[in-house]
Amino acid sequence: MSDLVRVGFVGLGVIAETHLGVLSERTDVALEFTVDPRLTQSPSFRGAEPSHYDSVTEALKAHQPDLVVIATPTDTHVDVALQALTLSSARVLVEKPLAHDLAALARLHALEDTVDVRGRVFTAHHFAFSPEVDWAAQQIAERPEWGPVTRITSAFYDPYVLRGEQAFASYNSSWTDSGINQLSMLSRFVDLTQLTSASRQLDQSASSWCTYEYRSRGAMGTARLRSSWLTGSSSKESHLAFGESGVEMWIDHTAMTGFAARENDLLVTHGNDGLTPRKVAHYRPLYDSLLSSEPDPVMSFATAATITELHNAR
Ligand SMILES: NC(=O)c1ccc[n+]([C@@H]2O[C@H](COP(=O)([O-])OP(=O)(O)OC[C@H]3O[C@@H](n4cnc5c(N)ncnc54)[C@H](O)[C@@H]3O)[C@@H](O)[C@H]2O)c1
Repeated sequence: MSDLVRVGFVGLGVIAETHLGVLSERTDVALEFTVDPRLTQSPSFRGAEPSHYDSVTEALKAHQPDLVVIATPTDTHVDVALQALTLSSARVLVEKPLAHDLAALARLHALEDTVDVRGRVFTAHHFAFSPEVDWAAQQIAERPEWGPVTRITSAFYDPYVLRGEQAFASYNSSWTDSGINQLSMLSRFVDLTQLTSASRQLDQSASSWCTYEYRSRGAMGTARLRSSWLTGSSSKESHLAFGESGVEMWIDHTAMTGFAARENDLLVTHGNDGLTPRKVAHYRPLYDSLLSSEPDPVMSFATAATITELHNAR
């Protein structure tokens, strides 16, 4: 990318605030335009108001950005990405999940004959950048004596029951929204191989439960994934068991903390200074990586395609 990255931002809803806050901290970024048919003007960005449009098509008639960020409702990601890919030469960062189903993923694959989809498409798998996930992955890599991760249990709760139908319109289902975060997070620890449970969606898609098989240090293990919107508060935790050594690790994604213990002994801990809001703590390292010369493979099209297939497996 050039020294000053000209960004076009599509979809000015809840998560856009975090993206734009993090982008505004960066001196290597200029916000060139925003797109959202719900609004009539762009929010202020470093005291200025970039050009604003109702549609990506219209915006890309007037601008040639280096990066288009797509933070629209989940079901629209691929439609908007296809427009950005065909009407510009920009890299495209799409919010997670890249594709809400396998048919949508196939539409991106179909473009590969004419457009450098693999070189240009990145997915904001932001949970893979969360500090406690980073810490846990580092502990696992540095401690082969802990042995393989033999079981993972992860539970993600969001208070979206309070948003009613709006939550389904923006995020599709609890599994579509949280499952992708759980799978991209787990890809930091283990090699996921396949879905092993029959069902995923519960409570009219406001909750989910499923199991996956994975490989860890030559052994096979099981991940049990629970998610739900039937709550008034946000809470996200994962537990990793290392059965051969008796080590257990707890990661609290809400507090961004973690620790590992064996029997009565505390082995390692992770805390933070309490100054960085959770989503900012995800998106700062994500943009550091995206705008570097070697973006983390967890954001690549290849990884997103694999995770999408696991996410939608039957
Ligand atoms: N809210 C979060 O905490 C969060 C975190 C990470 C990722 N995400 C992902 O980001 C995406 C957006 O989530 P959100 O919470 O910001 O949703 P939201 O519903 O608050 O915002 C979506 C915005 O996109 C606009 N929009 C709809 N269609 C559009 C189009 N074709 N072109 C331009 N703008 C369009 C809407 O008017 C709305 O302002 C979702 O896919 C979600 O999974 C959300």
